[in-house]
Amino acid sequence: MPEFNLLKSVPSVRRDVSARLQNKERNRAISLAFGEAYFDGPREQGYGGYTYDGRWVPVAEAARDHYGLKSGQSVLDVGCAKGFFVYDLMQVVPGLDACGVDISDYALTNAKPEVKHRLQQSSADNLPFEDDSFDAAFSINTIHNLDRDGCIRTLREMNRVVKDPSNCFVQVDAYRNEEEKNLFEAWMLTAKTYGTPEDWRKIFEDANYVGDHFWTILEFEDQVQL
Ligand SMILES: C[S@@+](CC[C@H](N)C(=O)[O-])C[C@H]1O[C@@H](n2cnc3c(N)ncnc32)[C@H](O)[C@@H]1O
Repeated sequence: MPEFNLLKSVPSVRRDVSARLQNKERNRAISLAFGEAYFDGPREQGYGGYTYDGRWVPVAEAARDHYGLKSGQSVLDVGCAKGFFVYDLMQVVPGLDACGVDISDYALTNAKPEVKHRLQQSSADNLPFEDDSFDAAFSINTIHNLDRDGCIRTLREMNRVVKDPSNCFVQVDAYRNEEEKNLFEAWMLTAKTYGTPEDWRKIFEDANYVGDHFWTILEFEDQVQL
């Protein structure tokens, strides 16, 4: 279960945590539908506009290099949203067969047109693929939206659908101390499972997950990673 910072190139953004605290429960209920409000509504209810800007290109390049992705191989993005990472993986590895699943009808309907046909609706914990279908599987900032048992089922599903379970990557919400926990709980809208890296390592063990992982940790109110 190696730690691997696949997203290290993703730029930091300003987050107005205090704005999130207003109408938090109402906004959380709206966000949990993973509909238009979450992706393209106000920042208080989610992304505040989830549009393609190429930020996943260096992440796709890092994935290509780390997992040795080549033309003719196939990869899966679990929680693919509008398919931006699927698109960028196919740009940086010509001939790669990339596909994605997401629970959000809105994201899939409004997906990047070039890859829309490669995406399908499914819950992360019940993947509609045969065993050993993929050369690598990724799930970025998604599995914490399921409860603990759902996280375990998802990690097992990722293990199942890849040929080599070490060729998996998950990034999840975490915090390392009380200050980060308070900041996280003030900001987050949709997470159902979160904890310290030690808590997550226990989940990985319970799922027999042997792939790579990394954390999304909010460190500063005004400058944290996406
Ligand atoms: C924070 S977004 C991350 C999207 C994308 N991976 C990224 O990093 O830009 C979380 C995604 O998880 C999806 N999601 C939430 N629950 C899910 C589930 N049970 N199964 C599959 N996808 C889910 C949401 O629709 C959303 O697209």
